[in-house]
Amino acid sequence: MTDKKTILEHVLKDEITQILSYSTMRQIKEVVQTENIRAYIIGGYVRDLILQRHSNDLDIVVEGNGIEIAQKAARKLGVQVNVFKNFGTAMFKTPDIEVEFVGARKESYRKESRKPIVENGSLEEDQNRRDFTINALAISLNKENLGSIIDPFDGISDLEQKLIRTPLNPDVTFSDDPLRMIRAIRFAAQLNFTIVDETFEAIERNAERIFIVSKERVCEELNKIILSENPSTGFHLLEKSGLLKLIFPQLSLLKGVESKNGKKHKDNFEHTLQVLDNIALKSNNLWLRWAALLHDIAKPATKKFDENTGWTFHGHEFIGSKMVFEIFKQLKLPLNEKMKYVQKLVLLHLRPIVLAQDEVTDSAVRRLLFDAGDDIDDLMMLCDADITSKNRNTVAKYLNNFQLVRTKLKEIEEKDAIRNFQPPVSGEIIMETYGIGPGREVGLIKNAIKEAILDGIIKNNYDEAYEFMQKEAEKLGIVKK
Ligand code: CTP
Repeated sequence: MTDKKTILEHVLKDEITQILSYSTMRQIKEVVQTENIRAYIIGGYVRDLILQRHSNDLDIVVEGNGIEIAQKAARKLGVQVNVFKNFGTAMFKTPDIEVEFVGARKESYRKESRKPIVENGSLEEDQNRRDFTINALAISLNKENLGSIIDPFDGISDLEQKLIRTPLNPDVTFSDDPLRMIRAIRFAAQLNFTIVDETFEAIERNAERIFIVSKERVCEELNKIILSENPSTGFHLLEKSGLLKLIFPQLSLLKGVESKNGKKHKDNFEHTLQVLDNIALKSNNLWLRWAALLHDIAKPATKKFDENTGWTFHGHEFIGSKMVFEIFKQLKLPLNEKMKYVQKLVLLHLRPIVLAQDEVTDSAVRRLLFDAGDDIDDLMMLCDADITSKNRNTVAKYLNNFQLVRTKLKEIEEKDAIRNFQPPVSGEIIMETYGIGPGREVGLIKNAIKEAILDGIIKNNYDEAYEFMQKEAEKLGIVKK
């Protein structure tokens, strides 16, 4: 045992004494001891306690019937218990923590497994079948060794050295549940840990087995990687291990640099990951992070080489926004307003740049505000993140221009209120004024009014819009009733 480890265990003792004194924990401990059954706090809670991360999820493994102990503890605490007979688990919530009980298993541990549970294992057997050494640590709730840490695979040292390692031969651990390959990468990204060579090589070897895992579970882990502090770490590992091309081929296609007549384009995979990391510094919005990941997704599909201009990716924002649906569907992400938000940002991500390159005219800014609506601030954040040039002058120039666009956006918004555009003259008013029913003419007039406002020909108010409506109606030969 290293000196450092002894010190750590000493410090931990105090922390463990403290958590065992919390009221929920005291009641659970009493039930365990009265029932004379062996039970342990296990998994993520212990890991996070040592890492000093806050955790509200407490897993308790019982050598025996976990459901029974959960029911008794819940009764004592006066809370409702939910029993999942098929999974052999039971859980309850107290105001400060969510507790799940499970019987120790002889076979692979997996919360969501649909396979029949083989219970009646010992703690040791249960720990053997967990995913990583750092997730197999247990704290005893038993009288004879209350509060001691049971760490058969030296998970504490791995926590100290920031290592991800499987407790058993990694081929066995990954074959128990291939999702663990992505979990290894997720923990590496979340905790800034390194996956040991033996474990990483097993991921490379077993990557194809990911296909037996449901898309929903894969996506849950992907989202956690995206939400981590340095998402690029996770995506580099996914790519290096061979998993990325299996679970998200469109993203892995971004990788690589092609050169023709001495002209190279940038590696769009590296660029995308940098944009994602940049966004991660500014926002925890999962969907904004997805937009960053997908903003250039259609570059491979639109890539062309022109003798004069070099590499082009014309229309990648448009094709990219179309690809969002296909990718969301394939990954089982929600096909709802979140997807539409990502589509919108992908579609619009070049607009502020184009705008900033030209003269920033009022009407261009008005149109951008109209198209982006309430998502304008997120769009501008994405555009800032998209500047990954190493040339300081280029970066300064773009940031400066974006600042100009922002100032203009604010000015125009204050003046014209375009952000949540509502036509100042409604279809009903047009129909009532001219005694006509719904039809092509109403649409034409409404659209002409909107265009006139966006072009700055009239102001966004009722009087000017009404006057404009009259001129348009006249042009169409419609007369007042
Ligand atoms: N576990 C496992 N294999 C899996 C999933 C989970 O062995 N495929 C075990 C690990 O011991 C893990 C525990 O179940 O610590 C709880 O799983 P989960 O709640 O998914 O993860 P946590 O480790 O708690 O981490 P997080 O809360 O960040 O998901």
